[in-house]
Amino acid sequence: MPKISNKGSNMPESPIRKLVPYAEEAQKQGKNIYYLNIGQPDIKTPQVALDAIKHQNLETIAYSRSEGSESYRMKIADYYKRNAINVNHKDILVTTGGSEALLFAFGSIMDEGDEIIIPEPFYANYNGFSNASGVNVVPVISKIEDNFALPPIEEFEKLITPKTKAILICNPGNPTGYLYSKEEIKKLAAIVKKHDLFLIADEVYREFVYDGEEHYSILQEPGLEDYAIVIDSVSKRYSMCGARIGYLVSKNEAVIKTALKFAQARLSPPTLAQIASEAALDTPQSYFDDVKDEYVKRRNTLISGLEKIEGVKVAKPNGAFYCIAELPVKNSDDFAKWLLESFDYNNDTVMVAPAAGFYSTSGVGLNQIRIAYVLNEASLKMAVKILEEALKVYKD
Ligand SMILES: Cc1ncc(COP(=O)(O)O)c(C=O)c1O
Repeated sequence: MPKISNKGSNMPESPIRKLVPYAEEAQKQGKNIYYLNIGQPDIKTPQVALDAIKHQNLETIAYSRSEGSESYRMKIADYYKRNAINVNHKDILVTTGGSEALLFAFGSIMDEGDEIIIPEPFYANYNGFSNASGVNVVPVISKIEDNFALPPIEEFEKLITPKTKAILICNPGNPTGYLYSKEEIKKLAAIVKKHDLFLIADEVYREFVYDGEEHYSILQEPGLEDYAIVIDSVSKRYSMCGARIGYLVSKNEAVIKTALKFAQARLSPPTLAQIASEAALDTPQSYFDDVKDEYVKRRNTLISGLEKIEGVKVAKPNGAFYCIAELPVKNSDDFAKWLLESFDYNNDTVMVAPAAGFYSTSGVGLNQIRIAYVLNEASLKMAVKILEEALKVYKD
Protein backbone atom coordinates (compact mmCIF):
# COMPACT_ATOMS: atom_id res chain seq x y z
CA MET A 1 0.00 0.00 0.00
CA PRO A 2 1.32 3.53 -0.73
CA LYS A 3 2.61 5.23 2.39
CA ILE A 4 1.26 8.21 4.34
CA SER A 5 3.74 11.09 4.73
CA ASN A 6 5.71 11.61 7.94
CA LYS A 7 4.10 15.04 8.11
CA GLY A 8 0.67 13.40 7.96
CA SER A 9 1.56 10.78 10.55
CA ASN A 10 2.98 13.44 12.86
CA MET A 11 -0.06 15.70 12.58
CA PRO A 12 -1.43 15.92 16.15
CA GLU A 13 -5.05 15.15 16.94
CA SER A 14 -7.02 18.08 18.29
CA PRO A 15 -7.36 17.66 22.07
CA ILE A 16 -10.62 19.58 21.73
CA ARG A 17 -12.20 17.21 19.24
CA LYS A 18 -10.54 13.84 19.83
CA LEU A 19 -13.04 12.74 22.48
CA VAL A 20 -16.02 13.36 20.19
CA PRO A 21 -16.60 9.60 19.51
CA TYR A 22 -16.87 9.02 23.29
CA ALA A 23 -19.35 11.89 23.56
CA GLU A 24 -21.40 10.47 20.68
CA GLU A 25 -21.50 7.09 22.39
CA ALA A 26 -22.54 8.69 25.71
CA GLN A 27 -25.31 10.54 23.91
CA LYS A 28 -26.50 7.30 22.30
CA GLN A 29 -26.77 5.86 25.81
CA GLY A 30 -29.13 8.75 26.60
CA LYS A 31 -26.73 10.85 28.72
CA ASN A 32 -27.01 14.62 28.70
CA ILE A 33 -23.61 16.25 28.13
CA TYR A 34 -22.47 19.74 29.12
CA TYR A 35 -19.96 20.68 26.44
CA LEU A 36 -17.08 22.62 27.99
CA ASN A 37 -14.51 21.33 25.53
CA ILE A 38 -14.92 23.63 22.55
CA GLY A 39 -14.90 27.43 22.13
CA GLN A 40 -18.17 27.49 20.24
CA PRO A 41 -20.14 30.29 21.92
CA ASP A 42 -23.91 29.89 22.35
CA ILE A 43 -24.25 33.69 21.80
CA LYS A 44 -26.46 34.81 18.89
CA THR A 45 -24.76 36.22 15.80
CA PRO A 46 -25.52 39.98 15.42
CA GLN A 47 -28.81 40.57 13.60
CA VAL A 48 -27.15 42.86 11.01
CA ALA A 49 -24.98 39.96 9.84
CA LEU A 50 -27.87 37.50 9.69
CA ASP A 51 -29.98 40.06 7.77
CA ALA A 52 -27.18 40.63 5.27
CA ILE A 53 -27.28 36.94 4.36
CA LYS A 54 -31.08 36.84 4.22
CA HIS A 55 -31.35 39.93 2.04
CA GLN A 56 -28.46 39.44 -0.35
CA ASN A 57 -29.53 39.11 -3.98
CA LEU A 58 -26.47 37.71 -5.70
CA GLU A 59 -27.23 35.89 -8.92
CA THR A 60 -23.83 34.23 -9.01
CA ILE A 61 -21.76 33.40 -5.97
CA ALA A 62 -18.46 34.31 -7.60
CA TYR A 63 -14.89 34.18 -6.30
CA SER A 64 -13.83 37.34 -4.51
CA ARG A 65 -10.41 38.94 -4.79
CA SER A 66 -7.72 36.76 -3.21
CA GLU A 67 -6.96 39.43 -0.60
CA GLY A 68 -10.67 39.85 0.18
CA SER A 69 -13.15 42.38 -1.15
CA GLU A 70 -11.88 45.96 -1.08
CA SER A 71 -15.01 47.37 0.58
CA TYR A 72 -14.68 44.83 3.38
CA ARG A 73 -10.97 45.54 3.89
CA MET A 74 -11.67 49.30 4.02
CA LYS A 75 -14.29 48.73 6.70
CA ILE A 76 -11.95 46.47 8.68
CA ALA A 77 -9.36 49.28 8.60
CA ASP A 78 -12.01 51.63 10.05
CA TYR A 79 -12.72 49.09 12.78
CA TYR A 80 -9.02 49.03 13.71
CA LYS A 81 -8.86 52.84 13.68
CA ARG A 82 -11.82 52.91 16.10
CA ASN A 83 -9.69 50.63 18.28
CA ALA A 84 -6.68 52.99 18.15
CA ILE A 85 -4.84 50.78 15.65
CA ASN A 86 -3.65 52.71 12.65
CA VAL A 87 -3.76 50.39 9.65
CA ASN A 88 -4.76 50.79 6.05
CA HIS A 89 -6.81 48.33 3.95
CA LYS A 90 -3.59 47.44 2.09
CA ASP A 91 -2.20 46.04 5.36
CA ILE A 92 -5.10 43.56 5.60
CA LEU A 93 -5.53 40.21 3.89
CA VAL A 94 -8.87 38.42 4.37
CA THR A 95 -8.52 34.70 5.02
CA THR A 96 -10.66 31.62 5.57
CA GLY A 97 -10.73 32.00 9.34
CA GLY A 98 -7.89 33.00 11.61
CA SER A 99 -6.68 29.44 11.03
CA GLU A 100 -5.72 30.19 7.44
CA ALA A 101 -4.14 33.49 8.51
CA LEU A 102 -1.87 31.48 10.83
CA LEU A 103 -0.94 29.09 8.02
CA PHE A 104 -0.18 31.98 5.64
CA ALA A 105 1.88 33.75 8.31
CA PHE A 106 3.91 30.61 9.01
CA GLY A 107 4.38 29.94 5.29
CA SER A 108 5.43 33.53 4.58
CA ILE A 109 8.13 33.84 7.24
CA MET A 110 9.46 30.36 7.99
CA ASP A 111 11.12 27.49 6.17
CA GLU A 112 11.35 23.78 7.05
CA GLY A 113 13.41 23.35 10.20
CA ASP A 114 12.97 26.93 11.41
CA GLU A 115 11.91 27.56 14.98
CA ILE A 116 9.12 29.54 16.58
CA ILE A 117 9.03 30.35 20.30
CA ILE A 118 5.57 30.11 21.88
CA PRO A 119 4.64 30.55 25.54
CA GLU A 120 2.79 27.41 26.57
CA PRO A 121 0.15 26.26 27.25
CA PHE A 122 -1.00 27.54 23.85
CA TYR A 123 -3.87 27.11 21.41
CA ALA A 124 -3.46 23.45 20.48
CA ASN A 125 -3.68 23.96 16.73
CA TYR A 126 -0.40 25.94 16.77
CA ASN A 127 1.18 22.48 17.03
CA GLY A 128 -0.73 21.34 13.94
CA PHE A 129 0.06 24.48 11.91
CA SER A 130 3.75 24.19 12.86
CA ASN A 131 3.86 20.57 11.84
CA ALA A 132 2.12 21.33 8.53
CA SER A 133 4.70 24.07 7.86
CA GLY A 134 7.68 21.91 8.92
CA VAL A 135 8.44 24.37 11.71
CA ASN A 136 9.64 23.38 15.18
CA VAL A 137 7.86 24.82 18.20
CA VAL A 138 10.18 25.88 21.00
CA PRO A 139 8.02 26.31 24.08
CA VAL A 140 8.63 28.65 26.95
CA ILE A 141 6.60 27.48 29.93
CA SER A 142 4.19 29.76 31.73
CA LYS A 143 2.83 28.40 34.99
CA ILE A 144 -0.57 28.18 36.65
CA GLU A 145 1.11 29.33 39.93
CA ASP A 146 2.01 32.64 38.21
CA ASN A 147 -1.48 32.95 36.69
CA PHE A 148 0.23 32.17 33.32
CA ALA A 149 2.10 35.52 33.18
CA LEU A 150 4.74 35.91 30.48
CA PRO A 151 7.91 34.08 31.61
CA PRO A 152 10.91 36.36 32.26
CA ILE A 153 12.36 37.76 29.05
CA GLU A 154 15.71 36.03 29.79
CA GLU A 155 13.88 32.72 29.32
CA PHE A 156 13.07 33.74 25.74
CA GLU A 157 16.62 34.91 25.06
CA LYS A 158 18.01 31.57 26.24
CA LEU A 159 15.95 29.82 23.57
CA ILE A 160 16.87 31.97 20.57
CA THR A 161 19.07 30.16 18.01
CA PRO A 162 20.07 31.02 14.41
CA LYS A 163 16.95 29.08 13.33
CA THR A 164 14.52 31.16 15.40
CA LYS A 165 12.27 33.23 13.13
CA ALA A 166 9.42 34.37 15.32
CA ILE A 167 7.73 34.59 18.69
CA LEU A 168 4.01 33.82 18.75
CA ILE A 169 1.67 34.97 21.50
CA CYS A 170 -2.07 34.68 21.90
CA ASN A 171 -3.51 37.80 23.55
CA PRO A 172 -5.81 37.37 25.38
CA GLY A 173 -4.86 33.75 25.59
CA ASN A 174 -6.58 30.56 24.71
CA PRO A 175 -6.39 28.34 26.81
CA THR A 176 -5.23 30.46 29.76
CA GLY A 177 -7.38 33.62 29.50
CA TYR A 178 -4.19 35.58 30.18
CA LEU A 179 -4.11 39.21 29.06
CA TYR A 180 -0.64 40.62 28.29
CA SER A 181 0.18 43.97 29.84
CA LYS A 182 1.53 46.89 27.83
CA GLU A 183 4.87 46.41 29.62
CA GLU A 184 5.03 42.77 28.55
CA ILE A 185 4.33 43.72 24.92
CA LYS A 186 7.09 46.33 25.14
CA LYS A 187 9.51 43.70 26.45
CA LEU A 188 8.63 41.37 23.59
CA ALA A 189 8.99 44.25 21.12
CA ALA A 190 12.51 44.95 22.41
CA ILE A 191 13.54 41.32 22.08
CA VAL A 192 12.21 40.82 18.52
CA LYS A 193 13.92 44.03 17.40
CA LYS A 194 17.19 43.05 19.06
CA HIS A 195 17.23 39.59 17.44
CA ASP A 196 15.47 40.52 14.19
CA LEU A 197 12.49 38.20 14.66
CA PHE A 198 8.82 38.50 13.75
CA LEU A 199 6.28 38.91 16.53
CA ILE A 200 2.99 37.21 15.69
CA ALA A 201 0.05 38.04 17.96
CA ASP A 202 -3.15 36.06 17.72
CA GLU A 203 -5.68 38.66 18.83
CA VAL A 204 -8.89 36.88 17.93
CA TYR A 205 -10.24 37.45 21.47
CA ARG A 206 -9.39 41.20 21.53
CA GLU A 207 -12.93 42.23 22.56
CA PHE A 208 -13.11 39.71 25.40
CA VAL A 209 -11.23 41.62 28.08
CA TYR A 210 -12.62 41.98 31.61
CA ASP A 211 -12.34 43.88 34.89
CA GLY A 212 -11.75 47.26 33.26
CA GLU A 213 -8.45 46.08 31.72
CA GLU A 214 -7.46 47.29 28.26
CA HIS A 215 -6.10 45.28 25.40
CA TYR A 216 -2.79 46.54 23.98
CA SER A 217 -2.22 45.33 20.43
CA ILE A 218 1.26 44.77 19.03
CA LEU A 219 0.08 47.01 16.16
CA GLN A 220 -0.12 49.88 18.67
CA GLU A 221 3.51 49.52 19.68
CA PRO A 222 5.62 52.24 17.98
CA GLY A 223 8.58 51.01 15.93
CA LEU A 224 7.20 47.48 15.52
CA GLU A 225 5.77 48.02 12.01
CA ASP A 226 8.25 45.70 10.26
CA TYR A 227 8.04 42.98 12.88
CA ALA A 228 4.37 42.72 13.86
CA ILE A 229 1.88 40.29 12.32
CA VAL A 230 -1.62 40.10 13.76
CA ILE A 231 -4.00 37.17 13.35
CA ASP A 232 -7.65 38.10 13.63
CA SER A 233 -11.06 36.51 13.12
CA VAL A 234 -14.79 37.14 13.12
CA SER A 235 -15.46 33.71 14.66
CA LYS A 236 -15.63 34.71 18.32
CA ARG A 237 -16.07 38.49 18.03
CA TYR A 238 -19.45 38.15 16.33
CA SER A 239 -20.17 34.53 17.24
CA MET A 240 -19.71 33.63 13.56
CA CYS A 241 -17.45 30.57 13.83
CA GLY A 242 -19.06 28.95 10.79
CA ALA A 243 -18.58 31.96 8.52
CA ARG A 244 -14.88 31.06 8.22
CA ILE A 245 -13.56 34.59 7.90
CA GLY A 246 -10.38 35.91 9.47
CA TYR A 247 -7.54 38.20 8.53
CA LEU A 248 -3.83 38.66 8.60
CA VAL A 249 -2.70 42.21 9.35
CA SER A 250 0.79 43.65 8.99
CA LYS A 251 2.41 46.97 8.12
CA ASN A 252 5.32 44.96 6.67
CA GLU A 253 4.66 45.12 2.92
CA ALA A 254 6.81 42.08 2.12
CA VAL A 255 4.78 39.94 4.53
CA ILE A 256 1.47 40.95 2.95
CA LYS A 257 2.87 40.55 -0.57
CA THR A 258 4.12 37.06 0.24
CA ALA A 259 0.93 36.02 2.06
CA LEU A 260 -1.01 37.21 -0.99
CA LYS A 261 0.76 34.57 -3.11
CA PHE A 262 -0.52 31.87 -0.73
CA ALA A 263 -3.95 33.53 -0.91
CA GLN A 264 -3.87 33.49 -4.72
CA ALA A 265 -3.08 29.76 -4.69
CA ARG A 266 -6.29 29.08 -2.78
CA LEU A 267 -8.12 31.62 -4.99
CA SER A 268 -10.50 33.40 -2.65
CA PRO A 269 -11.92 33.64 0.85
CA PRO A 270 -15.66 32.79 1.08
CA THR A 271 -17.72 35.40 -0.79
CA LEU A 272 -21.04 35.10 1.06
CA ALA A 273 -19.36 35.08 4.44
CA GLN A 274 -17.51 38.28 3.58
CA ILE A 275 -20.86 39.97 2.96
CA ALA A 276 -22.08 38.85 6.38
CA SER A 277 -18.78 39.79 8.04
CA GLU A 278 -18.78 43.24 6.44
CA ALA A 279 -22.30 43.82 7.78
CA ALA A 280 -21.19 42.55 11.20
CA LEU A 281 -18.88 45.56 11.43
CA ASP A 282 -22.03 47.67 11.96
CA THR A 283 -22.92 45.71 15.10
CA PRO A 284 -23.96 48.20 17.80
CA GLN A 285 -21.67 48.61 20.81
CA SER A 286 -24.53 47.45 23.06
CA TYR A 287 -24.13 43.92 21.60
CA PHE A 288 -20.51 43.74 22.79
CA ASP A 289 -21.35 45.28 26.16
CA ASP A 290 -24.04 42.65 26.73
CA VAL A 291 -21.81 39.81 25.57
CA LYS A 292 -18.99 40.97 27.82
CA ASP A 293 -21.30 41.24 30.85
CA GLU A 294 -22.50 37.74 30.16
CA TYR A 295 -18.96 36.32 29.97
CA VAL A 296 -17.90 38.06 33.17
CA LYS A 297 -20.85 36.46 34.98
CA ARG A 298 -20.02 33.08 33.49
CA ARG A 299 -16.35 33.38 34.38
CA ASN A 300 -17.12 34.38 37.97
CA THR A 301 -19.60 31.52 38.38
CA LEU A 302 -17.16 29.00 36.94
CA ILE A 303 -14.05 30.14 38.80
CA SER A 304 -15.73 30.48 42.19
CA GLY A 305 -17.32 27.06 41.71
CA LEU A 306 -14.04 25.41 40.75
CA GLU A 307 -12.16 27.07 43.61
CA LYS A 308 -14.53 25.42 46.07
CA ILE A 309 -13.73 21.90 44.88
CA GLU A 310 -11.10 20.26 47.03
CA GLY A 311 -7.79 19.74 45.25
CA VAL A 312 -8.66 21.90 42.24
CA LYS A 313 -6.39 24.82 41.30
CA VAL A 314 -7.40 27.43 38.78
CA ALA A 315 -5.89 30.64 37.37
CA LYS A 316 -8.33 33.52 37.05
CA PRO A 317 -8.66 34.56 33.41
CA ASN A 318 -8.74 38.28 32.47
CA GLY A 319 -9.84 37.68 28.92
CA ALA A 320 -11.15 35.24 26.29
CA PHE A 321 -13.52 32.55 27.59
CA TYR A 322 -11.32 29.71 28.73
CA CYS A 323 -9.52 28.62 31.82
CA ILE A 324 -7.05 25.93 32.74
CA ALA A 325 -7.89 23.96 35.86
CA GLU A 326 -5.52 21.61 37.64
CA LEU A 327 -7.29 18.53 39.02
CA PRO A 328 -6.38 16.00 41.68
CA VAL A 329 -5.95 13.30 39.01
CA LYS A 330 -2.85 11.78 37.41
CA ASN A 331 -4.03 11.80 33.84
CA SER A 332 -6.78 14.15 32.70
CA ASP A 333 -7.03 12.35 29.36
CA ASP A 334 -8.22 9.21 31.15
CA PHE A 335 -10.42 11.29 33.44
CA ALA A 336 -12.09 13.09 30.50
CA LYS A 337 -12.79 9.76 28.76
CA TRP A 338 -14.09 8.24 32.00
CA LEU A 339 -16.48 11.18 32.44
CA LEU A 340 -18.07 10.30 29.11
CA GLU A 341 -17.84 6.51 29.25
CA SER A 342 -18.41 5.55 32.84
CA PHE A 343 -19.82 8.42 34.85
CA ASP A 344 -23.07 10.27 35.17
CA TYR A 345 -24.70 12.40 37.83
CA ASN A 346 -28.46 12.05 37.49
CA ASN A 347 -27.82 11.08 33.87
CA ASP A 348 -25.71 14.21 33.20
CA THR A 349 -22.01 14.44 32.49
CA VAL A 350 -19.46 16.95 31.15
CA MET A 351 -17.04 17.01 28.25
CA VAL A 352 -13.74 18.81 28.86
CA ALA A 353 -10.51 19.15 26.87
CA PRO A 354 -7.48 17.43 28.43
CA ALA A 355 -4.80 20.12 28.63
CA ALA A 356 -1.71 18.10 27.67
CA GLY A 357 -2.47 18.82 24.00
CA PHE A 358 -2.08 22.54 24.73
CA TYR A 359 1.58 21.98 25.62
CA SER A 360 4.32 20.89 23.25
CA THR A 361 6.54 19.76 26.13
CA SER A 362 5.59 16.14 26.73
CA GLY A 363 4.56 15.18 30.24
CA VAL A 364 3.40 18.69 31.16
CA GLY A 365 -0.24 19.56 31.88
CA LEU A 366 -1.22 15.92 32.39
CA ASN A 367 -3.36 16.78 35.41
CA GLN A 368 -4.94 19.85 33.80
CA ILE A 369 -8.04 20.41 31.72
CA ARG A 370 -9.20 23.34 29.64
CA ILE A 371 -12.72 24.58 30.20
CA ALA A 372 -14.53 26.86 27.76
CA TYR A 373 -17.18 28.90 29.58
CA VAL A 374 -19.45 29.12 26.60
CA LEU A 375 -22.60 27.90 28.38
CA ASN A 376 -25.07 29.93 30.43
CA GLU A 377 -24.57 30.35 34.18
CA ALA A 378 -27.11 27.71 35.22
CA SER A 379 -25.45 25.13 32.96
CA LEU A 380 -22.00 26.09 34.24
CA LYS A 381 -23.14 25.66 37.85
CA MET A 382 -24.46 22.24 36.98
CA ALA A 383 -21.27 21.32 35.12
CA VAL A 384 -19.13 22.31 38.12
CA LYS A 385 -21.35 20.21 40.40
CA ILE A 386 -20.92 17.22 38.07
CA LEU A 387 -17.12 17.68 38.10
CA GLU A 388 -17.15 17.86 41.89
CA GLU A 389 -19.19 14.67 42.20
CA ALA A 390 -17.05 12.94 39.59
CA LEU A 391 -13.80 13.78 41.42
CA LYS A 392 -15.23 12.26 44.62
CA VAL A 393 -15.53 8.84 43.03
CA TYR A 394 -12.82 8.84 40.32
CA LYS A 395 -9.91 6.47 40.89
CA ASP A 396 -6.73 7.00 38.81
C1 LIG B 1 -6.51 31.44 19.74
C2 LIG B 1 -7.22 31.05 18.50
N1 LIG B 1 -6.69 31.40 17.32
C3 LIG B 1 -7.27 31.07 16.16
C4 LIG B 1 -8.44 30.34 16.15
C5 LIG B 1 -9.01 30.00 14.83
O1 LIG B 1 -10.27 30.46 14.66
P1 LIG B 1 -10.99 30.62 13.25
O2 LIG B 1 -10.23 29.82 12.25
O3 LIG B 1 -12.37 30.12 13.48
O4 LIG B 1 -10.95 32.08 12.95
C6 LIG B 1 -9.05 29.97 17.35
C7 LIG B 1 -10.27 29.17 17.38
O5 LIG B 1 -10.73 28.68 18.39
C8 LIG B 1 -8.41 30.33 18.55
O6 LIG B 1 -8.92 29.99 19.74
